[in-house]
Formats: sequence, structure tokens, C-alpha cells
Amino acid sequence: MFKTTIRCTFFIILSLWCLIPSHSAHAAEKWVNILAFFGTSVPEAKVSLDAIEKSYAQNGEAYITAYTSDIIRKKLEKQGQKILSVNAALNKASAMGFKNVRVQSFHVGAAEEFYQLQRMILKNIHSNPKRFTHVLLGYPLMSSGQDLYEVRDVLLQNLAANRKENEAVVFMGHGNHHGPGDIMLYALGKALQEKDDLIYVASVEGSNTFAKVLQNLKAKNIKKVWLQPFMIVAGDHARNDMAGPEPDSWLSQLQAAGIEGSVHMLGLGQMQGIQNIFLRHTKDAYDDMAKSKKSD
Ligand code: CO
Repeated sequence: MFKTTIRCTFFIILSLWCLIPSHSAHAAEKWVNILAFFGTSVPEAKVSLDAIEKSYAQNGEAYITAYTSDIIRKKLEKQGQKILSVNAALNKASAMGFKNVRVQSFHVGAAEEFYQLQRMILKNIHSNPKRFTHVLLGYPLMSSGQDLYEVRDVLLQNLAANRKENEAVVFMGHGNHHGPGDIMLYALGKALQEKDDLIYVASVEGSNTFAKVLQNLKAKNIKKVWLQPFMIVAGDHARNDMAGPEPDSWLSQLQAAGIEGSVHMLGLGQMQGIQNIFLRHTKDAYDDMAKSKKSD
């Protein structure tokens, strides 16, 4: 009788013990997202990143924010703002007990910055083998034909509300002198023109130059042009290279050509349709970088 009571008490305690959620065991089964932004040091541009974070929170997704740009992180640190690198964010996820991580790239396309992100993740995994069970990488904004046309449609819904039919629109992408980024911007320009032949895409760097577009605008005798960033944030490039007072900014170049320029300062991250494409990429992520170790 006495023995049974002890045994019962023991089992009750054991069962209760099992019910107490152990923090790390709980976290180990769960997934955390690392939101890998290029980053921005322009305070007004941060609204785009805040809006993206909010969309993840509203979808019940746990996340850690990281900036891939060393220059921007260093600049912010001098101002007393500490932002994690992707490497530091992976370390933090592990320290919190997470074994399953999704890293979402917030780049426009798989170009220079995206490949750097891939290398950073692989380096972290290879330096800390067996730390994570899964490390999935969510692809950038424009990674498939479906993405291309979805992005095109989101842009068409987010033009300046008072743009008139005979007024042109020029989107400012980033572009690269190396790598495949220019091809995506070129494809986007073509996709937009299928719907509206007064919408153009040009870029700060690379082969899709503003000079080419300007020539076209002059040939078509366009009187007014809307400038809009095609970047996750409406940051430094948008505010200076596109809309700044310097004589080589796009706005100044338009004015010099006798064309009226207006600015629609809106980051891609502020558009709900763009947030939804990223959320879809995160949910559909299948590129498991933790598994790449085994096939080496
Ligand atoms: Co740049």
C-alpha cells in the first residue's frame, strides 16, 4: 500500500515534470526566420523594413532582423544602433535553442548581394556542424516567372495616384556591372511595357542606363515623368541619385532636357503585394543549406 503510494506520487511528479515546457526543447522544434535585409541608414527609409517586419509578425512568424551590409551596420553602430549581421543572427538563433532556421533574402534578385548571403550562411554552417537541423534559404523577390508578373502587377497598382495617361514612369533599380541582376531588371521593363508602354526600368549601375531611357522619352516627346524607386527601401540611391539636387541626378537630368519630373517616393517594402511575395518565398523555401554538408 505504502509502496504503491510512493510509486503513484513518483509517476505524478514525473508526469507533471514532463508537462513543464523546457525552453530550449520547445524552441528546438520551432522555426525562426532571419530577415536578411541589405539595410539602410536613412531613417525615413526604414518604414519599408518596419512594414516587412510587421507583415511577418502579423502572420505569426518569429523573426530576427539582420542587415547584410557591413558599411551600413558600422555606420549605425557609430550612432548607437546595434544591428546583427546574418552570421550574428544565426548565432543568436542557435543560442536561443532553435535548430530550424529560415533565412529570407530581401534582395530584389539573385545577384551580387544574394550570392554573398549564401556564402555567409554556408560559412556559418560549416564552422558549426550539426548545430542546425535545417537552414532553409528563401529566394529573393524576383526568382521565377510567376514572381516577375506578380511584381509587375503590384507595381502597376502602386503608381502615383495622380499620374495621367500621357505621363511616363521610370523605375530606378540598382543593377550590377557584374552578375545576372541586369537581366531581371530588363525582363521587368519588358513585362511592364506589355501593359503600359510609357513605363520604363533603368538602374543606378549596370547596362539598363537612364541615358537610354532619356533618349526614348525625348523621342516620344514626353512632357512629364514620374520617378519611382524599384528598391526594397526608398533610401540613399532614391533620395540622391534619383531625386537629389545634384546635376547628375535623374530628376536634374529630366529638368535639363526640358521634361517635368515628379517623384513618387515609395519603397517596395511598403507595398503589401511585395510583402506577400516574400512571405510566400519564406513559406515555400526548400533550399536546405544544412543538408549541403552531407553531400560534400
Ligand atoms: Co548601391
